[in-house]
Amino acid sequence: MTSSPLIELIREKLDIVDVVREYVPALKKAGRNYKANCPFHNEKTPSFTVNPDKQIYFCFGCSEGGDVFKFVMNIEGLTFPEAARKLALKAGVEYGDERTHAMTEADKERLELKKLLKAAAAFYHKELFSPGGEKAKLYLGERRLSKATVERFELGWAPAGGKALMNELKAKGWSRDLALKAGLITEREGGLVADTFRGRIMFPIRNQSGETVAFGGRVLDPEGIPKYLNSPETVLFSKRRTLYGIHEALPQIRKSGRLLLLEGYMDVIGAHQHGIDWAVAPLGTNLTVEHAGIVRRYAKDTVVMFDDDRAGVQASVKAANVFMESGLYVRLASIGGGLDPDEFLNEHGREEFEKKLDSAADPLDFQLNLLFKDPKNPPSSQDKAKAIGDLLETVARQNDEILKSEWIKSIAAHFGVDQSSALKELRKAALALPQEKTKPQADPARGIPQLEKDFLQLLLQYPALLDQSTGLDPEDFSHPMARKLFLALQALPAERRAKAAPLLAEQFPEDSALILGLAVTDFSSGTAPAPAAAQEIRKLRRKSLQRRVKELQSLQHMDPQQFQEYSRLMSELKSSAKDL
Ligand code: GTP
Ligand code: MN
Repeated sequence: MTSSPLIELIREKLDIVDVVREYVPALKKAGRNYKANCPFHNEKTPSFTVNPDKQIYFCFGCSEGGDVFKFVMNIEGLTFPEAARKLALKAGVEYGDERTHAMTEADKERLELKKLLKAAAAFYHKELFSPGGEKAKLYLGERRLSKATVERFELGWAPAGGKALMNELKAKGWSRDLALKAGLITEREGGLVADTFRGRIMFPIRNQSGETVAFGGRVLDPEGIPKYLNSPETVLFSKRRTLYGIHEALPQIRKSGRLLLLEGYMDVIGAHQHGIDWAVAPLGTNLTVEHAGIVRRYAKDTVVMFDDDRAGVQASVKAANVFMESGLYVRLASIGGGLDPDEFLNEHGREEFEKKLDSAADPLDFQLNLLFKDPKNPPSSQDKAKAIGDLLETVARQNDEILKSEWIKSIAAHFGVDQSSALKELRKAALALPQEKTKPQADPARGIPQLEKDFLQLLLQYPALLDQSTGLDPEDFSHPMARKLFLALQALPAERRAKAAPLLAEQFPEDSALILGLAVTDFSSGTAPAPAAAQEIRKLRRKSLQRRVKELQSLQHMDPQQFQEYSRLMSELKSSAKDL
């Protein structure tokens, strides 16, 4: 665990429960701990646990865990020094310059990458206002973007030549290697490198903290392909986890608890320009479970409004399903008239747009409306049969039981079928749904005998008991992992014992799930810790004597020394039996 007097000071001033609650408002007291649905994976019953005594968190579902710094690093996607800076601010502690604090090589690289991307965004932005960017600037004007909006989203222009950015970076002393890692330049045939983005309008893609982590580039030439080009995935950028506009929209999303999902970059920018400041978009891909997990940290309600074309309607129903399955409420808005949200806003303005949002339908009604929208052209019975199947799939994804039964009623009424047969079909639909994608977790304890595990748990929860365990030998543990952890616990200096769990989790990252899991689980033997430990020490000792006796017994013959040991062990065993 990274440590310094400053870090310790921050740690002392903050309570992990308060920090976690800011991101996970649903956190509830459960025994000694606090619990909630995990913000790091998709789940329906809480396995995410925060332990105030140890100041650690751990999820039994996805094995994510650590101390308050680790939590902020993970949930915000920050490096250690960035998380520390943030927490220092919260704790009211002067943090100083991050370079003076310990940083891993990976952290250093992430920071360098962010600086490089920031420099690239500034370059593209400057180019937009140079003579070479004239056409792009005119185009943005035609799209009715204001100067303020262009500044706010730091839109830019990537010159067409193929070397402009590369030369700029070289002149400013950036390494070619880092530019390749950032995806700003790309290796082409023959080993030559060139700018990744050429002749494109540039959209910096920012993380929640507002740092540029990637770019999207739109062609200016209507014939150009692809229409949008995104940065490749890097250590800073994963498409599956990124929502365009999240930084700009977050204050409003946090405040109102609702989020508007649009389809594209231009829609988000247009929405914000018109004061619809809770809009974000996925990056041209489908909405993912990871996106929904991020949204769930800040909002409960969502509205999905995609372009009014066939593909948009289909994609919006899919996105709604993803939100719904993650336990979010979702409504679908349709814009009509074949327009994109961005075009609609420019033609009809904010008020009309908000009317469309207000009349958003829940996913079931949305699909029913689609089906019955043309009274002159009612669906054929074949269409109907297929539609019932699709609708029941939507119902099956709904977690809210009340909505579910309302929806069944509604389907039955619309199609003139009785509710019980609709329910029967629903059961089939539910079975056919892909199951929740939680990785099957290997047993983190990997076969440590219960007694050894119980004892380690006691030590992790009450490290002071180590004083009582001086009679134990690491050899008294049969399992190598238990032996290793016991040794590491013994080796802790007394003043660091209180932090045994997070310290060991960091020392043995491959076993951190076991360590944190044991440390946050309620100790529930009904006995006070000290007598419980004494009892377990006797049992461990006895088991270990038995093992050694067995070993000696299995020898073909014992030499006198071995025989002497055997006799000593046997008598120790006999007297230990009285203590049990
Ligand atoms: P305009 O057409 O300029 O209004 O932009 P738009 O953002 O509305 O684009 P469109 O409606 O065509 O597409 C919606 C979103 O899909 C875009 O914002 C992109 O994120 C994504 N997208 C569209 N075309 C491509 C493509 O060719 N490649 C990739 N990777 N993404 C694309
Ligand atoms: Mn568009």
